[in-house]
Amino acid sequence: MNIVALQQQFEKSSTEDVLRYFLKEYKGKIALSSSLSIEDQVLTDLVAKIDKETRIFTLDTGRLFPETYSLIDKTNKKYSIAIEVFFPNHEKVEEMVKTNGINLFYNSVEKRKQCCQVRKLEPLKRSFQGLEVWICGLRQEQSITRFNTKAVEWDEANGIIKINPLVNWVEKDVWDYIKANDVPYNELHDKGFPSIGCQPCTRAIQPGEDLRAGRWWWEAPEHKECGLHNRPKKKKEAE
Ligand code: ADX
Ligand code: SF4
Repeated sequence: MNIVALQQQFEKSSTEDVLRYFLKEYKGKIALSSSLSIEDQVLTDLVAKIDKETRIFTLDTGRLFPETYSLIDKTNKKYSIAIEVFFPNHEKVEEMVKTNGINLFYNSVEKRKQCCQVRKLEPLKRSFQGLEVWICGLRQEQSITRFNTKAVEWDEANGIIKINPLVNWVEKDVWDYIKANDVPYNELHDKGFPSIGCQPCTRAIQPGEDLRAGRWWWEAPEHKECGLHNRPKKKKEAE
């Protein structure tokens, strides 16, 4: 597998072409990781239409919104699928909370990252068992931490191919697809939440604010990644 060749091959391909290729070539070794975001709902719709047997999983941090749980249910019913749910290791959560408190994430970036590590990254590693490719809903437009994202990437930290079939979509493209295909979406989107993660770390945004302004809103924009996705190094950091 030559990642540069794959990148060149799919540089100008449509979302469907990228998905069709990887779902066929890596059948049984590929999964969509869904946070139930609008992007992931589009991908769920596309994946279910191409190959319903494809694994779709979500990481339940234990701190999600009730609306997100409702959407898992609704999505399963609509597509006759069963989204796999991965939970954090209970001993690690108990130890973390005992030492740092239940809402440790507000105390420092370090504590917030520790919580993401225990509640998201450790379960993600387990979900990768048997996988060679993971499908994600990253878009370049989403934030300064994602402007460099490519349709096909080598995920060094996890030793796995990562594909981002919606990398060049803008928000309007996502909503147009959702409306045109009657894709179920989180009802919080109609209440001012464009980007939804865990409940204590997500709030509604004001008109004109950045799409991810409501995520970890107390932190500077360059910190706003939970560690699932490698942050491209900025020039200063790379030096
Ligand atoms: S995050 O890093 O800020 O949390 P974001 O919510 O934008 O990420 O989601 C980006 C992509 O990461 C999603 O399209 C999805 O592929 C993956 N992802 C994020 N959160 C989860 C989750 N809880 N379960 C599964 N995949 C997730
Ligand atoms: Fe913890 Fe917040 Fe990260 Fe969720 S987003 S895992 S609650 S720090």
